[in-house]
Amino acid sequence: MRSTIYSSVLSCLAAIAVAQTTPVWETLPPTPQLPGNPAGTHTEINGVKIWHAEFGTAVDGEVPVLMLHGGFGNSDYYGNIVKTLMAKHHVIVMDTRGHGRSTMDSTPFTYELYAADASALLESLGVAKAAWVGWSDMAIGTFAALLDGHNSTLVDRAFAFGGGHDPQSTNATFTSSATYAAFIGRATKEYAALQPDGDLKAFAAAVETLESTQPNWTEADFAKVKLGAKVTIADGQYEEAVVLAEPALLNSWIAGSQRVTLTNVSHFAPLQDPDQFAAEVEEFLSA
Ligand SMILES: *[C@@H]1O[C@H](CO)[C@@H](O)[C@H](O)[C@H]1NC(C)=O
Ligand SMILES: *[C@@H]1O[C@H](CO)[C@@H](O)[C@H](O)[C@H]1NC(C)=O
Ligand SMILES: *[C@@H]1O[C@H](CO)[C@@H](O)[C@H](O)[C@H]1NC(C)=O
Ligand SMILES: *[C@@H]1O[C@H](CO)[C@@H](O)[C@H](O)[C@H]1NC(C)=O
Repeated sequence: MRSTIYSSVLSCLAAIAVAQTTPVWETLPPTPQLPGNPAGTHTEINGVKIWHAEFGTAVDGEVPVLMLHGGFGNSDYYGNIVKTLMAKHHVIVMDTRGHGRSTMDSTPFTYELYAADASALLESLGVAKAAWVGWSDMAIGTFAALLDGHNSTLVDRAFAFGGGHDPQSTNATFTSSATYAAFIGRATKEYAALQPDGDLKAFAAAVETLESTQPNWTEADFAKVKLGAKVTIADGQYEEAVVLAEPALLNSWIAGSQRVTLTNVSHFAPLQDPDQFAAEVEEFLSA
């Protein structure tokens, strides 16, 4: 009996010690809720139903902030950031097709299609231009919008966190990291909860095909981006999903762009340090 108590006290202490010594950039803090956990709205776009929700109020003379989550995720990951930004800005979050509460069809995913969906959503909301904030796959989707002659007209400015220009920009060790395993396990459960009629196998296959084969851009493509300092290339100090040389490369390819490295966080910065992330987005909005 006594030894059981001792051993559970000891394992408790050990757990506390681990919690204290695991640096935040190796953790996956809980997925927050969006403020008010809104029901949101589904809009028919390009053959699927795209889910979005809006926060804060439109500010005269200021474009709304469009927040686009990463692959396998959903808009909830931005919950704590939205909570901060909505105090001063009109914020729109959108679930990428197939992700979260947005449906998919048999059309293969492309970053161009992701960009076209987001552009069509803005158009349906009567938004002429937005400040696009994209994370991971939707940092790439944001690049796709910037590189498209039509969709780029809806981009006032762009904040791209953890994106790349081709599949080789993904760090080969990422999928064997503990954080990745934790994320995929969690995302699978969230998918089942948010999309009860979804087909996880088809969805996962579509994302995996996309990520392993696209995009395929070069310096010459990024030379077409003319937004200068209104583009921010952001990453985490301990980025583990994108090769470490990528942010500097993209920054050099987009003339006049800004580069920001968030301190003490990884690719999962929106969960690990939402306050720092929100502060950098505020800075970007004022550029
Ligand atoms: C987005 O780009 C695609 C491909 O060029 C185009 O078909 C679509 O009309 C564009 N949407 C908007 C709203 O610009
Ligand atoms: C990538 O694009 C280049 C042209 O820019 C082309 O030659 C090459 O085949 C493409 N690669 C893939 C994997 O699509
Ligand atoms: C890949 O990520 C690991 C772990 O974060 C890092 O040590 C390594 O340098 C990265 N590799 C590249 C090519 O950036
Ligand atoms: C980053 O993390 C290290 C180790 O946990 C800590 O000593 C340091 O104060 C942190 N820096 C910032 C800017 O939070």
